[in-house]
Amino acid sequence: MTDLADLADVGRDLRRGGYSRHGFDRVELELREWFTEEARRRGLDVRPDRNGNLWAWWGAPGPGAVVTGSHLDSVPGGGAFDGPLGVVSALQAVDLLRAGGFEPAKPLAIVVFVEEEGGRFGVACLGSRLMTGAITPEAAARLTDADGVTFGEAAHAAGFDPLRMGRDEPALAHVGAFVELHVEQGRGLDVPVGLASSILAHGRWRYTFTGEGNHAGATLMEDRRDPMLPAAQLVVAARRAARDGARATVGRIAPNPGGTNVIASSVDVWLDARADDEPHTREVVERITSAARRAAADEGCEVRVAEESWGGTVLFDPALMADVRRAIGEDTPALPTGAGHDAGILAAHVPTAMLFVRNPTGVSHAPAEFAEADDCAAGVAALAATLEHLASA
Ligand code: GLV
Ligand code: MN
Ligand code: MN
Ligand code: MN
Repeated sequence: MTDLADLADVGRDLRRGGYSRHGFDRVELELREWFTEEARRRGLDVRPDRNGNLWAWWGAPGPGAVVTGSHLDSVPGGGAFDGPLGVVSALQAVDLLRAGGFEPAKPLAIVVFVEEEGGRFGVACLGSRLMTGAITPEAAARLTDADGVTFGEAAHAAGFDPLRMGRDEPALAHVGAFVELHVEQGRGLDVPVGLASSILAHGRWRYTFTGEGNHAGATLMEDRRDPMLPAAQLVVAARRAARDGARATVGRIAPNPGGTNVIASSVDVWLDARADDEPHTREVVERITSAARRAAADEGCEVRVAEESWGGTVLFDPALMADVRRAIGEDTPALPTGAGHDAGILAAHVPTAMLFVRNPTGVSHAPAEFAEADDCAAGVAALAATLEHLASA
């Protein structure tokens, strides 16, 4: 909790509440410096990879490494726990293992992934997607933030070469197992610590509705081609289409030019959709898209749809989960989650598991996100026991 308190003033968003910390912005770079110092103070060898992720090694980097970690960025106006809890817990777990005299037989590493939330450049898990080849460096470099800065430019300013980014075979070959600790993000866990069993299939889509910009007072209602109309109907369609455990959210909408007395000429609407499997998710999005197309036609507007990111259902590694249970208790519950994680990207490449710390409010991606100190301590103990078990001879 002291470590989280160290970070408490970094990146506070006074306008939205909570925190706004985004990949390679001033605040995230400050947090990375904090992490680097904390890791070096513990004698860990900190090395950035070429995709903008930070690695802190206990022992020489090599194959079979036991890796833990998470991210330090947040959504706009996010909570204090999503991301930082996994990083802080990793440092604390190292302290706990050291205090117990543990000498790892395998290399151990803490990783901090860049731009996990996609809060700045739109694609979540950007650092782990680059590392695994799930996004090409060319596509990543072109992603643009709200100020028109590209990911390539931001990476370059942070000391990384966007031309050298992309699938990192040696880094992947080092990872023998990856275990990410994270605050649980719903109301699914009623004991201090649990495991994740799976992650929903998940994608993001951008709908651009184009109509005719005009005067709010001088334009008769029957003369309008107002793209806000189909945009609004997309929001309603999302609520109606998400059934049987599917989730569909419009959390971001940008009318252009965005004036109270101006009929917008175009509107961008971002849809986040998730469901148990790929066909179900696609079906939900198709229903929403059909409704959006009908609404656009009714209003004499055009609509363009772009898939900004996609990931299928993730099942965490049963053998690794069994190992974690041997370390922390056979009765540890496992629950599916609707939240995305770098662990979900890595799971397609290396044995991966997740530890969840109870969330008493069920709130996440918002300032009220919370975990009790005792539960966080239980999370650190579970992570330390897991690392000890996995990194023993
Ligand atoms: C990331 O936390 C996400 O689930 O969107
Ligand atoms: Mn998150
Ligand atoms: Mn997270
Ligand atoms: Mn006027």
